[in-house]
Amino acid sequence: MAVISASVRKDRMGPTIADWIVAALGSSADVDLIDLADTLLPDDSLLYPGGGPKSAVADRIDAADAFVFVMPEYNHSYPASLKRLIDWHYAEWRLKPATIVAYGVHGGYPAIEQLRGVLAEFNVVTTRRVIGLPAPWASLDEQQRYAPDDGLSSRLAGCLNELRWWATCWPTHAEPAPSRRRTDLAGLRRTPTRLIKEFWCSTGTCKHHNLLINRVRGAEAWGGHDGAGARRRERRAPAPVFTVGQSD
Ligand SMILES: Cc1cc2nc3c(=O)[nH]c(=O)nc-3n(C[C@H](O)[C@H](O)[C@H](O)COP(=O)(O)O)c2cc1C
Repeated sequence: MAVISASVRKDRMGPTIADWIVAALGSSADVDLIDLADTLLPDDSLLYPGGGPKSAVADRIDAADAFVFVMPEYNHSYPASLKRLIDWHYAEWRLKPATIVAYGVHGGYPAIEQLRGVLAEFNVVTTRRVIGLPAPWASLDEQQRYAPDDGLSSRLAGCLNELRWWATCWPTHAEPAPSRRRTDLAGLRRTPTRLIKEFWCSTGTCKHHNLLINRVRGAEAWGGHDGAGARRRERRAPAPVFTVGQSD
């Protein structure tokens, strides 16, 4: 499970909240804490549809079966650092579940709802239970650890329990995911390469599309760097019966 801590500011709250989540996960998951302050992404001028050159954290995102996004609310949205991380990857996110823990003066719920919409682009399913932590800086113990009341800790347990359930059962279909069957759906032979060509032609830059397509093929970037992670997930065995069993 990857816990992704989005804040990159000096004197940030992010690591304190991320540590609280990692402690709550305990030994129930193999946790990889990805701190965006330590994550250098390539220059955005190299970005193109489906990602771009492979980033330093691509393998870590690809290896995760589920994500916990830990993020502050900035101006009623989530931080730009997180949007960059999302845009720099594609297949690494696909067909996996995520939960979201936001924080801010008022708890960060507007940011949570915006992130859900973006994650839907990758068939990332977000848990119904998410958490917004209002003014977490007011709930630190003497060691400066986040120490909220039992209600919040139990709500976090509910989110993580739901996330584990999705990680186990998502997806269980033997069929490929619909978005990987464009030809069947559209009744047209619209391959990924052709879709990219159509997109760039529609932007009026079609004289460059061959160059773009070769770059995409070269980096195997459509659907991610090789799509192997997504293919592996689609072949997963059916999930065992599991009861979420948490109250709100
Ligand atoms: C640029 C910026 C914008 C912010 N906008 C909001 C906001 O819209 N709503 C809110 O509740 N808090 C807002 N805050 C307060 C942050 O939630 C608070 O400072 C929090 O500690 C930031 O997380 P960090 O310390 O991990 O970066 C904002 C903070 C910054 C730096």
